[in-house]
Amino acid sequence: MAPTKQRILTGIRPTGALHLGHYIGALENWLRLQEQYECFFLIADYQALGDHIEEIDRIRKSVLDVALDWLSVGLNPTDNAFVIQSYVPEHAELTLLLSMITPMGRLERNPTLKTEMQRLESESMSVGFYTYPVSQVADILLPKAHLVPVGEDQIPHIEMTREIARKFNRLYGEVFPEPKALVGRIPRLMGTDGQAKMSKSLDNCIHLSDDAAAVTERVRRMYTDPARLRATDPGHLEGNPVFMYHDAFNPNKAEVDELKERYVQGKVGDVEVKKKLAVALNAFLDPIRERRAYYEQRRDDVAAALLDGTRRARAIAAQTMLEVRTAMRLIYLD
Ligand code: TRP
Repeated sequence: MAPTKQRILTGIRPTGALHLGHYIGALENWLRLQEQYECFFLIADYQALGDHIEEIDRIRKSVLDVALDWLSVGLNPTDNAFVIQSYVPEHAELTLLLSMITPMGRLERNPTLKTEMQRLESESMSVGFYTYPVSQVADILLPKAHLVPVGEDQIPHIEMTREIARKFNRLYGEVFPEPKALVGRIPRLMGTDGQAKMSKSLDNCIHLSDDAAAVTERVRRMYTDPARLRATDPGHLEGNPVFMYHDAFNPNKAEVDELKERYVQGKVGDVEVKKKLAVALNAFLDPIRERRAYYEQRRDDVAAALLDGTRRARAIAAQTMLEVRTAMRLIYLD
């Protein structure tokens, strides 16, 4: 028998359609990893509810959009599993039990949670949001994942997962492996406006589902070097999203190098650099668009991928919960 593959769990909050930032920061890595590992790709709807409880319509739509985006980029739902978090009730159960061994002080020290909490008013912040890192620990431990591919901002959550796994094993006996984080090639893609990241609320995204005209228009309006007023002024590459995207998505390195050279010498206008970027981005997106068109005609296949992956994840989760209850001696009647 072939040795069993190591497991990966990773996830996304379903709060909107996916964009190029998701591709570079996560999906590109997942596409490679899905060949070597058994991957669980989680649509973390419980986690999204923590700060979007008044936007259930958006979450409902996004669960399906994310699944469609995943299929469109080429994630394989047969060898791996697409999982809807709230359809696996064991997520809620393990979150509750792990919350009993997680000190409040430990959550308060989680730097990612701290930053996010500054965004929300503590008066209106839900208890569910506050404890989401514990549910993320449960996401990872339920399938006993060995590796967790994530962006840099998620590393504190993986560190917490390791600590809680260790603590559980020490208190009740060895049940969980200690997972490790895996960070992608480019941790974060700038927004088209030069802001640090792409985000729906900043309206600076190029979505995987955008058509060619929308991409070309978005690139035409993209932020470049603000210090450069004329095409004959020497330009700066540093912090310039147009060149960051060329580096990330234009496979023609010779073309990119040549453009950079002329740009810093003031020998090329923004229009040409952007035209070439739009061409490269659309060439990159074309096969994704083709697969999307295929699945848009086959909505039943998308639903089947979600249901099948969720069912398989649930069987594994039920087994883990039995081990957890046994280890904790929460079985009272034979
Ligand atoms: N918090 C992650 C994000 O915002 C999404 C997520 C939920 C996740 N559960 C997870 C990531 C488990 C890794 C593992 O991107």
